[in-house]
Amino acid sequence: MGNCLAKQGDDDQVKKKITAATNKPRTSPATAPVECSIIHDATAALEAPCTGKIVKPNLKMFPLDDLKTATRNFKPDTILGEGGFGRVFKGWIDPKTFKPSRVGVGIPVAVKKSSSDSLQGLEEWQSEVKFLGKFSHPNLVKLLGYCWEESCFLLVYEYMQKGSLESHLFRKEGPEPLSWDIRLKIAIGAARGLAFLHNLEKSVIYRDFKSSNILPDRDFNAKLSDFGLAKLGPINGRSHITTRVMGTYGYAAPEYMATGHLYVKSDVYGFGVVLLEILTGLIALDKNRPTYGQNLVGYAMPSLSDKKSLKKIMDPKMDQQYSIKAALLIAQLILTCLESDPKNRPSMEDVLSTLEKAQSIKHKPKVKKALNKEQPKPIHYSNGYSKSRTHSPQ
Ligand SMILES: Nc1ncnc2c1ncn2[C@@H]1O[C@H](COP(=O)(O)OP(=O)(O)OP(=O)(O)O)[C@@H](O)[C@H]1O
Ligand SMILES: [Mg+2]
Repeated sequence: MGNCLAKQGDDDQVKKKITAATNKPRTSPATAPVECSIIHDATAALEAPCTGKIVKPNLKMFPLDDLKTATRNFKPDTILGEGGFGRVFKGWIDPKTFKPSRVGVGIPVAVKKSSSDSLQGLEEWQSEVKFLGKFSHPNLVKLLGYCWEESCFLLVYEYMQKGSLESHLFRKEGPEPLSWDIRLKIAIGAARGLAFLHNLEKSVIYRDFKSSNILPDRDFNAKLSDFGLAKLGPINGRSHITTRVMGTYGYAAPEYMATGHLYVKSDVYGFGVVLLEILTGLIALDKNRPTYGQNLVGYAMPSLSDKKSLKKIMDPKMDQQYSIKAALLIAQLILTCLESDPKNRPSMEDVLSTLEKAQSIKHKPKVKKALNKEQPKPIHYSNGYSKSRTHSPQ
């Protein structure tokens, strides 16, 4: 048995959640959150089926000491990131026994550890185990197991090599800027994950759709993480009324913010905001931008309907290497996702098919004339006029 050794997070790194508001006493749960059986082979757990399905939760209950060893005592240089729940560490385990292994041996895992002042706490941890342990889909991050000991709550996930979409889009000293094709690939993966949840017999509302919860693997196949806020959805498009409004400012749908009414289509709004981030390279909410531009939706929406203004807000990091026709299609899609009446927003299946259509529109780079030395020279007649002239000079 050990103690929780990781330090508290820096406040400025933690994004603003909408009153995550779990002011409840944080005690260890008396019973396991879901019926879980111990699995003995992570390779099997990581082999995603082609399509999604609901599976019997098959989660490993990790001893805290094992997770400490796997992350070298939650060493700061293993930190992958930090959110409202706490810090995320990279660790290594044996894929057969799930026992900790040496760095570089076995498989890498991401260990999310609650910080002692986490507002999200126990309830989210339970929800994560309940939902994510149950679903198996190539576009949902796999939860391998969990741990709760000594008032520490931990979750162990498959490790996603490329971090989060957020880090790729916005981090200044981050990885290479994403190309248009990769951006679309990520959007399509995320849309597939969300469509799967919405189309379950009892649809699941994700509730916290945002770029930091979209994690690409080494080939940029995107997976959704963090089901801590997920809710079973309403039936027949009616709303699910929640007493506490949760989610993240900048992404949450207006009807949900205003009334607490939650619809499957509230997720579609969040998807529209992320698409807007993908297009513009600007984060949904940024207090450091001038007042008029702090909220991305308010700032960028008026520019989405015509080509000229759209070009002005497109992410300059893409260096215009995209088809403007495809970009316009995405811009139109965003406008429908951001409709104020949830009924007018498209379903995630419709969103997916529009994204796939945009993906099929290929970019034809314009060849600059001045640099165009390779082109065949026009054939000149002896009088010095090229053949392409329709009329001979008088
Ligand atoms: N499975 C994973 N593999 C690799 N990196 C991960 C994984 N899960 C999380 N991370 C990294 O840790 C960061 C923090 O994740 P976390 O979900 O705790 O917070 P967040 O999504 O930024 O905020 P919030 O708490 O509001 O959801 C992510 O942005 C990502 O960079
Ligand atoms: Mg997250």
